[in-house]
Amino acid sequence: MNHLVGLRDVSADELRDLLALAVTLRARVRDEGRMSLLKGRSVGLLFLEPSTRTRFSFEMAAKNLGADVLSMSAEGSSTVKGETLWDTAKTLRAHGAHAFVLRHKYVGSPHQLARRVDVPVINAGDGINEHPTQALLDALTLLDRFGRIDGLTVAIVGDLRHSRVTRSNCFLLPKLGARVLLAGPGPLCPDSMTALDPVGGRIEVRHTLDEVVREADAVMMLRIQRERMAPGMLPSDAEYASLWGLKKLRPGQVVMHPGPMNRGLEIASDVADGPDSLIFQQKANGVAVRMAVLARVMGVA
Ligand code: CP
Repeated sequence: MNHLVGLRDVSADELRDLLALAVTLRARVRDEGRMSLLKGRSVGLLFLEPSTRTRFSFEMAAKNLGADVLSMSAEGSSTVKGETLWDTAKTLRAHGAHAFVLRHKYVGSPHQLARRVDVPVINAGDGINEHPTQALLDALTLLDRFGRIDGLTVAIVGDLRHSRVTRSNCFLLPKLGARVLLAGPGPLCPDSMTALDPVGGRIEVRHTLDEVVREADAVMMLRIQRERMAPGMLPSDAEYASLWGLKKLRPGQVVMHPGPMNRGLEIASDVADGPDSLIFQQKANGVAVRMAVLARVMGVA
């Protein structure tokens, strides 16, 4: 694997392999502390859209592997003066970056960068397209909890239309044997999303929150992405919270959320902070899967 720009074309074996590597590296850091697998190398973190979890977990992952980090956001960099992504990347490459992690609002920007640079590129979220390391950390969190992904039913609920997390999970989960239920308000959950299914027959649309809570082993709630939405796509906050806000789980069921959460809107605080919430395990697993992806694309594991 030279780059990780999306999960659509990553095979089930490669996904399992990355998850196994994440488990191994997570244990090594826990038992032995930081490693020197990437000693003498630098990772360029180009975060041209806001991020907390993804950015800091990539930084921690790179440092755990012994790499240096060149980290930049749009604000405070010369991108606000109009410098292109390509010139920005070439500048960091000249400063010694040996790989790039890119978050960008434009769909396909990591793919374009990967075609032009001579070092690995990892997609940290491109517009509404994909967020491959998020889906990998979600999968690792499910594996930790259930010991398997094969045979699980995972519901993804909310603003699916604008969700790169949904798209990457729709490419990953069916390949590893899970069934995916998608549910949300009509304009945010088009029936056409079942076409993302890479296997066939493993992605279904439901029209109420009650239906998915009845059926799912894990319920993944999504943030309403107002910044990507045309006016009028959503009912009022109160109506949304009443119809689609998760207030209760079934016994044995778990809740996940990629973050950031809108507490009281798509998820009640009692659920987010409750005993069946895996939300903060997801954050911790972000470091593990990002170590695995950096190590793999940079050719040291
Ligand atoms: N889940 C996620 O991508 O969070 P950030 O936007 O904070 O990185």
